[in-house]
Amino acid sequence: MALLLLLLLLFLLCGGYLAWAGDPFAYFDWEVSYLTARPLGVAQKVIAINGQFPGPPLNVTTNWNVVVNVRNALDEPLLLTFHGLQQRRTPWQDGVLGTNCPIPPGWNWTYTFQAKDQVGSFFYSPSASPLHRAAGGYGGIVVNNREVIPIPFPFPDGGDLTLFLGDWYARSHRDLRRSLDAGAPLGTPDGVLINGLGPYRHNDSLVPDGIVYERINVDPGRTYRLRVHNVGVSASLNFRIQGHSLLLVETEGSYTSQQNYTNMDIHVGQSYSFLVTMDQNASTDYYVVASARFVDASTVDKLTGVAILHYSNSQGPASGPLPDAPDDQYDTAFSINQARSIRWNVTASGARPNPQGSFHYGDITVTDVYLLQSRPPELIDGKLRSTINGISYIAPSTPLVLAQLFNVPGVYKMDFPNHPMNRLPKVDTSIINGTYKGFMEIIFQNNATAVQSYHLDGYAFFVVGMDYGLWTENSRGTYNKWDGVARSTIQVFPGAWTAVLVFLDNAGIWNLRVENLDSWYQGQELYISVVNPEEDHRDKTGLPLPDNTIFCGALSSLQREQSHRFQYSGASRAWEMVSAVAVLTAWLAATWL
Ligand SMILES: *[C@@H]1O[C@H](CO)[C@@H](O)[C@H](O)[C@H]1NC(C)=O
Ligand SMILES: *[C@@H]1O[C@H](CO)[C@@H](O)[C@H](O)[C@H]1NC(C)=O
Ligand SMILES: *[C@@H]1O[C@H](CO)[C@@H](O)[C@H](O)[C@H]1NC(C)=O
Ligand SMILES: *[C@@H]1O[C@H](CO)[C@@H](O)[C@H](O)[C@H]1NC(C)=O
Ligand SMILES: *[C@@H]1O[C@H](CO)[C@@H](O)[C@H](O)[C@H]1NC(C)=O
Ligand SMILES: *[C@@H]1O[C@H](CO)[C@@H](O)[C@H](O)[C@H]1NC(C)=O
Ligand SMILES: *[C@@H]1O[C@H](CO)[C@@H](O)[C@H](O)[C@H]1NC(C)=O
Ligand SMILES: *[C@@H]1O[C@H](CO)[C@@H](O)[C@H](O)[C@H]1NC(C)=O
Repeated sequence: MALLLLLLLLFLLCGGYLAWAGDPFAYFDWEVSYLTARPLGVAQKVIAINGQFPGPPLNVTTNWNVVVNVRNALDEPLLLTFHGLQQRRTPWQDGVLGTNCPIPPGWNWTYTFQAKDQVGSFFYSPSASPLHRAAGGYGGIVVNNREVIPIPFPFPDGGDLTLFLGDWYARSHRDLRRSLDAGAPLGTPDGVLINGLGPYRHNDSLVPDGIVYERINVDPGRTYRLRVHNVGVSASLNFRIQGHSLLLVETEGSYTSQQNYTNMDIHVGQSYSFLVTMDQNASTDYYVVASARFVDASTVDKLTGVAILHYSNSQGPASGPLPDAPDDQYDTAFSINQARSIRWNVTASGARPNPQGSFHYGDITVTDVYLLQSRPPELIDGKLRSTINGISYIAPSTPLVLAQLFNVPGVYKMDFPNHPMNRLPKVDTSIINGTYKGFMEIIFQNNATAVQSYHLDGYAFFVVGMDYGLWTENSRGTYNKWDGVARSTIQVFPGAWTAVLVFLDNAGIWNLRVENLDSWYQGQELYISVVNPEEDHRDKTGLPLPDNTIFCGALSSLQREQSHRFQYSGASRAWEMVSAVAVLTAWLAATWL
C-alpha cells in the first residue's frame, strides 16, 4: 500500500494524468520565473516555465479537463492566456486583463477549464502585459482527437514536432515597454529565434560564432507533424525547409484542404500544422528557415532564423545557400494569394464526428456588422497610442467580467462604434454589445503601414474575404461562402481588409486584439460582451465564478485572506509534496466513495 501511494505520488509529481467521473483531468504545475539565456549570444533575462524556455507542452485530448496551477515567481503581475482554446462559458479562465485580475508576484492561481469540442494546435503565452511575450513564457498546446474520431490523414509515424518562431529583441521586455512609453517605436528586432534559440551559422559573416541553434532529429522515410507557431513580437515570418515540401493539414483547430507548399507566411500569433516526409537523400542535413517578410534585403539577413533538420543517417552538415524566400519584399500579392488558398476541408471531421462543413456559415443571416479600422499609432494626450475606430483601449483596474457580474458601475461603456468615426481619437474603455447567438460580420480595415494580425478569444471565426483597398458593401460579392477556414487569428495587410464571420454562441466577455505586441500595448484591442439572456439571473442562482477568483480594483475588499501565496523556489519542493498529498487524498476519496 505504501508503495502504491508512493507510486501515485510520483505519478502526480511528474504531471501524470488521472481520470475520474466523466472526462479525464490533466494536471500541470508551473512556476514562472526569470532565467538567464543567450539566444543571440547576449545574456538576457527570459521568462521560463519550470526552468524551461520555451515552456513545457500542454498536451491533452478533446474534452479533457485541464488544471494548470501557475505560480508567479516574476517581479511583475502575471497572467497566461491559452491562445485559441475557447474556454466555453468560462471567460474567467481566459487570462487577459478584461477577464482576470493579474496574479501578483509571489501568488499562485489555478486555471481549471475544459478543452471542450476542440482539436488542433495552439499555444499559451503571458498576457497581463503584452510585452511579456517578447521575453518568452510561451509553450505549445496540443488537443488530440478522441480515438473514435479519425484524423483526415494517415497518422504521422514520426510523431509531433513543435516549432516556435518569433522575432526577438536583445533588450528586456521592460526596456521595450519603456521605449513605447517614451513614444519611441521598438525599431528593428535583433534576430529571429526558433524554439528559443538563435540561428545556425550558415554564413560566417552573418552569424557570429558560439550561438546555440535548434537541431531537429528525424528518421529517414518517416512523416512528422510539425506544429508551427509565430510567437514573436510583430514580424510576419516566411517558414520553409530546404528540399522538403510542407503539406498543410491544420490551422488553429480546423483541418484544411491538404495542399503542398514550398514555404508559408506565418503572421504573428498564428499556428499551422504541416506534414513533412523525410524523403530526401541523407547526404547532408537541411536548413529550416524563418525569415522576416516585407523588409529590405539587409534587414532580412539579420532577421533570419535558421535551425537544422538532421536525419539520423545524415552524412554531413547542411550546405548550399538557404532556400529562397519569395522574391517580393515590397509586394504583398503573393502573400495575400497564399492566404486565400488556405481552405477548410468541409468533409473532414473536426473535434466531433460530423463534417466540419455541416455548419453552413454561408447561409446564415448576419445580425451585426462591425467595420473596425486601424491607423498608424498617433499621439493622444501626449502619448503614442494605437486605435480601432479612433478608440484606444485602456484596461480598467476592475476586470470587465467581474464588473459585469458584480454590477460595478462606471467601469466600461457598451458603446463601441460599428464603423470608423470622423472624430478625434481618444482613450476609453468602450466595448461591443454582442447579441447572444447572433451572427457577427467583422471587417478589419488596415490603414497602418505594416501587416497586423487580429485574434479573438473564446471563438473561431470564418475567414471569408481579404482584399486591397477600402471595404465596401459590394466587397461582399467576393466572399467565400463555402470553405473559408475557421480559426482565431487572421492577418490584415496594410492598405487592405479582411472579413470574418463569427457565431456568438459563447457567453462571456471576450478579447479582440492585435497580436503585434507593440500595437496591443498601445491600446489596439477591445472586448465583445455576449450575454445569454436566459442565464442572466445570477443574483438568485449565485455567481458562476470559481472559488479561487482573485479580486482587485473596486472589488479588492472581497479578496479573502491570501491563500495563494507560495514560497519561492527553494521551498517549492515542499510545497509540491503538500499539494500532491492533498490531490491524492481527494482522488482516493473520489474513487472510493
Ligand atoms: C502528446 O501525447 C501523445 C500521447 O498522448 C503523444 O503521442 C504525443 O507525441 C504528445 N505530443 C507532444 C507534442 O508532446
Ligand atoms: C494555489 O495552490 C494551492 C495548492 O495547490 C491551491 O490549493 C490553491 O487553491 C491555489 N490558489 C489559487 C488561488 O488557485
Ligand atoms: C478532406 O477530408 C477527407 C475526410 O477525412 C479526406 O479523405 C480528404 O483527403 C480531405 N481532402 C483534402 C483535400 O484535404
Ligand atoms: C555570406 O553573406 C554575405 C553577406 O550577405 C554574402 O556577401 C556572402 O556571399 C555570403 N557567403 C556565402 C558563403 O554565402
Ligand atoms: C505533396 O508532395 C508529396 C511529395 O513531397 C507528394 O507525395 C504528395 O502526393 C503531395 N500531396 C498533395 C496533396 O499534393
Ligand atoms: C545521395 O547524394 C549523393 C551525393 O549527391 C550521391 O552520391 C548519392 O548517390 C545519393 N544517394 C541516393 C540514394 O540518391
Ligand atoms: C445589449 O444588447 C441587448 C440586445 O441584444 C440589449 O437588450 C441590451 O440592453 C444591450 N445592453 C446595453 C448595455 O446596451
Ligand atoms: C489610409 O486612409 C487614407 C484616407 O482614406 C488613404 O488615403 C490612404 O491611402 C490609406 N492608407 C492605407 C495604408 O490604407
